[in-house]
Amino acid sequence: MTDTPLKPHGLARRSANYGDREFALYLRRSFAKSMGYSQAMLDRPVVGIVDTGSGYNNCHRTVPELIEAVKRGVLAAGGLPLPFPTVSLCEPSLFPTSMHYRNLAALDTEAMLSAQPMDAAVLIGGCDKTVPAQLMAAASADIPCVQLVTGPMLATPFQGERLAACTDCRRYWAAYRAGRVTGERIAEIESRLATTAGTCGVMGTASTMGCIAETLGFMPPGHGSIPAVHAERLRAAEEAGMLAMRLIAKPILPSELITEASVENALRVLLALGGSTNALIHLTAVAGRRGVKIDLDRLNTLSDETPVLVDLKPTGEGYMEDFHAAGGMPALLWELRDLLRTEALDVTGRTLAERLKEPEFVDRRYIKARAEPVSPVGGLVSLFGSLAPRGAILKRSAATPALFEREARAVVFDGLEDLANRIDDPALDVTEDDALVLKNAGPLTPAGMPEAGYLPIPSKLARAGVKDMLRLSDCRMSGTAFGTIVLHIAPEAAAGGPLGLIETGDRIRLSVKERRIELLVDEATLAARRATWRPPAVPGRGWDRIVAEQVLQADEGCDLAVLRPAAV
Ligand code: FES
Repeated sequence: MTDTPLKPHGLARRSANYGDREFALYLRRSFAKSMGYSQAMLDRPVVGIVDTGSGYNNCHRTVPELIEAVKRGVLAAGGLPLPFPTVSLCEPSLFPTSMHYRNLAALDTEAMLSAQPMDAAVLIGGCDKTVPAQLMAAASADIPCVQLVTGPMLATPFQGERLAACTDCRRYWAAYRAGRVTGERIAEIESRLATTAGTCGVMGTASTMGCIAETLGFMPPGHGSIPAVHAERLRAAEEAGMLAMRLIAKPILPSELITEASVENALRVLLALGGSTNALIHLTAVAGRRGVKIDLDRLNTLSDETPVLVDLKPTGEGYMEDFHAAGGMPALLWELRDLLRTEALDVTGRTLAERLKEPEFVDRRYIKARAEPVSPVGGLVSLFGSLAPRGAILKRSAATPALFEREARAVVFDGLEDLANRIDDPALDVTEDDALVLKNAGPLTPAGMPEAGYLPIPSKLARAGVKDMLRLSDCRMSGTAFGTIVLHIAPEAAAGGPLGLIETGDRIRLSVKERRIELLVDEATLAARRATWRPPAVPGRGWDRIVAEQVLQADEGCDLAVLRPAAV
């Protein structure tokens, strides 16, 4: 036994279950001392630091130096910083998709936040699914947490334009498919799209989630958009460490941050950013962990009231570094102030009303005034109808208004393989007036709800100059993509939704004005098709089986049923 008894905090929390608590703590101290810590250090409050660095994760390349900066902040404030690894998800590195593993990362992170002894945590995330997973974990573990993001990459000047992943990746690839860019040129561009550390440089999912985490109050104002390679990002990390220590003295729990008020504010921000459609699924999952439901009808009301104010790719022109330099989230929140619920708290302990202050500078090229918005209405709308009884999403700010009121013939692909095999077949019976439909790519399928909703324009049409078509699916699209694309159709085909019954030649009607998406097929025909429909086989074992048995539909955030609070 030590002469210095541990206080019931830090390493003394959550002793291993040997049936003898004193022995468990004795053993824990012995092993901690084998790492060279003095007793004085081991008596300090503990801040866990979630390390999502990985050789597979380019977006998290800076995590090692961020950890050092967080540790500095914790040590300076009198704590003991203890980094620990969790699942790291990098968007382009995972099969079938990173979305398939978001809930695994959330489960891993929640388990480690709950099982290991710590008084508070700093969550270092960045790439698309990591921040949602960490916020879901924080919501469920409900210990004081500060979210730190790796931050966006910088755009690269290149031959008179600027490039950053991944809107420009898609733009150039579409031009290559259409024959407007040569193979040599596309190979040259490949090394220019992501030239610094950090997450995608546009208002894609990673950036949107950074802004949402800031809106929910998990980081101090202005921290969500600091570029990855700026010194300011390291100072934010140091501050995150200090802030975690303050939260130990004066706890503000995730359950106090994730409330109806803050979730509604986050939805407003998502709309005003022209942010990623994926963020809606993630926010639904995060809110769901605290029993806060996102109603897609309410989203439409908010969307009608909330203008798009941020002019960034993929819907506009700027990059994340422009948004940050233009004033970032504090400037945007100020602009939206009369629409926000200002009782919402943040980790600094202040309400939004106390945090809101008029910015000294706003660059109106990137953050517009309410009187001169990018669009007078929000970026997203939800659609309902016979094709999507539980809803679907359209990012109208990245779509072609001429396609908003439309009846079209469906050209249906049964799944990703069918899509890959036929989309560029010169014999494919398709015109630009048709609607491309992809089914069997939702959360329940082995495809793992990929970002395949951005169905490629058939190359024969692309080469003829067609840039957009109506496209529909039960999967997602990248936050960096654009087009008239109806996503997240629920229930998905694999769950027995009407999407599973659609066939080539059926008529579909989209009305953005009426918020409707209809399958114009009579009920008798659908009943006959339903009689022969079979659900997909359930995978035999492992994570795939857990997902197939537990994953919820898009309107419930695609969380696992078993991870939601018992009361929901
Ligand atoms: Fe990581 Fe885009 S691939 S943020």
